[in-house]
Amino acid sequence: MRHPINPILPIVAGLCILAQAEAAPSLVIDAAKPAGNVSPTLYGLMTEEINYSYDGGLYGEAIRNRAFLDDAKNPVHWTAFQQGNASVVIALDPDQPLNDVIKTSLRVTANAASAATPAGVANDGYWGIPVRPSSSYRVSFMAKAAQGFSGRVTVSIVSDDGTTVYAKTRGPGLSAGWKSYSMTLKTGKDVSPTAKAKFVVSVDQPGTIWLSLVSLFPPTWKNQLNGFRPDILQKLIDLNPKFLRLPGGNYLEGDTIDTRFDWKKTIGPIEQRPGHPSPWGYRSTDGLGLMEFLRWCEDMNAEPVLAVYAGYSLKGQHVNPGPDLQPFVQDALDEIEYVTGPTSSKWGAERAKDGHAKPFPLHYVEIGNEDWFDKSGSYDARFVQFSETIRAKYPDLKLISTYDSYRQHGPNAKPDVFDDHYYVTVDEFVKDNGHYDHYDRSAPKIFVGEWAAHESSFPPWDRRSAALPPTPNMRAALGDAAWMAGLERNSDVVVMNCYAPLFVNINGRQWRPDLIGYDALNSYGSPSYYAFRLFSTHVGDEILRGTVADSSVITSVTRDSKKGIIYVKLVNPTVDSQQLEIRVDGVSALKDTAEAQTIAADPSATNSISEPTKVVPVDSDVPGIKPSFTYTVAPNSITVLQLHVK
Ligand code: AHR
Repeated sequence: MRHPINPILPIVAGLCILAQAEAAPSLVIDAAKPAGNVSPTLYGLMTEEINYSYDGGLYGEAIRNRAFLDDAKNPVHWTAFQQGNASVVIALDPDQPLNDVIKTSLRVTANAASAATPAGVANDGYWGIPVRPSSSYRVSFMAKAAQGFSGRVTVSIVSDDGTTVYAKTRGPGLSAGWKSYSMTLKTGKDVSPTAKAKFVVSVDQPGTIWLSLVSLFPPTWKNQLNGFRPDILQKLIDLNPKFLRLPGGNYLEGDTIDTRFDWKKTIGPIEQRPGHPSPWGYRSTDGLGLMEFLRWCEDMNAEPVLAVYAGYSLKGQHVNPGPDLQPFVQDALDEIEYVTGPTSSKWGAERAKDGHAKPFPLHYVEIGNEDWFDKSGSYDARFVQFSETIRAKYPDLKLISTYDSYRQHGPNAKPDVFDDHYYVTVDEFVKDNGHYDHYDRSAPKIFVGEWAAHESSFPPWDRRSAALPPTPNMRAALGDAAWMAGLERNSDVVVMNCYAPLFVNINGRQWRPDLIGYDALNSYGSPSYYAFRLFSTHVGDEILRGTVADSSVITSVTRDSKKGIIYVKLVNPTVDSQQLEIRVDGVSALKDTAEAQTIAADPSATNSISEPTKVVPVDSDVPGIKPSFTYTVAPNSITVLQLHVK
């Protein structure tokens, strides 16, 4: 994976942070005249199915392999459940498919079973089934019974060893044809939270039944159907993101053309979604499909940045530009129509059928992902074909290129925005925080669509980092903050940026570091999460020039012109505290107390499931503020000072 220095060479000097030889370390802020406008979409999120981000993550489904499609031979994650003298045999049964899309089912044959000694099948979830007190779970499944079976089905959540029943309910009898069933499971108020539990479907009589799409949703965000895990979604909302780049990443491209994110197969009722293999080594249910991505944006009050499949897949397959590519271009047009079209349009009507008549806002469309990997050299022409067709129908959309192609193809191929990606060490981010200081202001804008500092010497995809925690430590957060300060200083050209990857289920990672970690029960933000939150929730709308002299503190200064607040971000990646003379030129007076939010910790400190808030911002008041004042920046710290203009 390339995660390079931006290939676009700096041409014109922009906002410079110049070191001047002065006696005392200082930061001089020019508040008389803004140096530019902060992009209103500067901070957002990037997402894809990696590290069990959706299945086993944000998507609330607790059952793993609910459609029995994860493995062609075995009902993985399902085991026989039998109590006392009960006996049961389970197997995949492709001869009893649910439909043309879900072409198998699970056959459960109870040879001996009774109400006191039930027989059935148990699911182990995504590293456990989450159990919390006083909770309601939505259960649903498709089922049918063989002739002669007149028993009833019971669903329950029980401890791993089967001895404790956390919730249980008896369902109806079954019929001979596929039918959908739903029930509610409720836990008692005295239950202790645990994920050492499994979900059981059992029968109380001998006989054969078939199951498909067995689903268990613990409480979801605002109780939505097919919804999200509330603790994880809340962490995202707290970041105040302005956009969500979806659906990837590599996940968009797939290993092969056939296994790309084929959006039309991810919408509609879940029994019509076949799911697909993801490039990260496991199968995606597509329960979180295009409509859920859009709802997710809406829940965060953010806009989608829609990446469309552009004819290149990771293992090297590509589609030739020209007639071969046309169906994929049409797919992208259809997708844009699904997101934005009126209900009188074909795909707008489909969206309405899927429960959302109102069009979603959309301003940015990205053509592909990391197409510098395409060694066939076809991206230039693929980009031209996509962009000309999309622009003809949607002239207001801003198009993002994943590779610098326009120099060869002229103005028609000129993207509005380039997507640059950086996975680098902490030192590299600290050193390169001025990367865009000299970027040509007349060139296309920049979207830093993936970035993250790794504190170890192993790059994120290197398996040797397996022994390290899945989320970054404070040292990495310092690198990330230094980098963000540079992006923010240059947010007249850097219109959007997002950390990647966003999520990791701590039991199933393919990549580190990741911003937010979780298991079946709990979630936490890494120090980099809190660094991002400090930045993304204190932005302002104007960039103020800040000139640092004789200090290694890295800064960014912005102002909220309506509130009259100046945000001074100070990143000290060194082990020494640093005293800084801060002078604000162009204001007559400042309120004498400022607020500071500071993350300061040993570089090796980190957060985890067991210590989720070891490294978090701490609030304090800073007295004695004048247009010229002294501030001591703590070692290894990230600070936002809020100065109030009187
Ligand atoms: O963020 C992980 C991966 O890194 C993304 O899928 C891909 O775009 C990049 O190479």
